[in-house]
Amino acid sequence: MVINIDIPAELNKEQRYKLISARLGGIAASEADALANLCNFMAYLYWTMGDVNWAGVYILRGGELVLGPFGGKPACSRIALDKGVCGACARTKEVQLVPDVHLFPGHIACDDASNSELVIPLFANGQLWGVLDIDSPTVNRFDEADKAGMMKIASQVEALAAQLRL
Ligand code: SME
Repeated sequence: MVINIDIPAELNKEQRYKLISARLGGIAASEADALANLCNFMAYLYWTMGDVNWAGVYILRGGELVLGPFGGKPACSRIALDKGVCGACARTKEVQLVPDVHLFPGHIACDDASNSELVIPLFANGQLWGVLDIDSPTVNRFDEADKAGMMKIASQVEALAAQLRL
């Protein structure tokens, strides 16, 4: 099955996220395996969000964030909770919208191309499960519309996370 990654260029951010979310729903509806779906979700975000160079999850395991499914270049395997934007997200359990990662104390540069970042905490069964991390080569790439759009997508990721047995 070929998964359609074409997003019409004329869509505004809200419409774009709505379509991406619907397509992710289609992916989840056509396959029962949550890990396969999570892999395709991250590849889908990487290819369709536009102007992003990394999209993936880090999963809380043994008190650290450990790399999970992603699209983009190979990345750091482990992130301590007191390190980086992802660590800050996991520690505070709050969304981190970072316009310029070079101004963020302790930012971890996995890819030199990254300049801005949006990280969303993910919960499963009432507990922090991990974080959803999106990186862009463009300073100030993410705004409140991205945050709102990604919150809906994060809830779709959380539904998969709740089914995963890792
Ligand atoms: N920049 C992140 C590390 C993960 S990578 O960007 C994929 C951070 O500071 O937490």
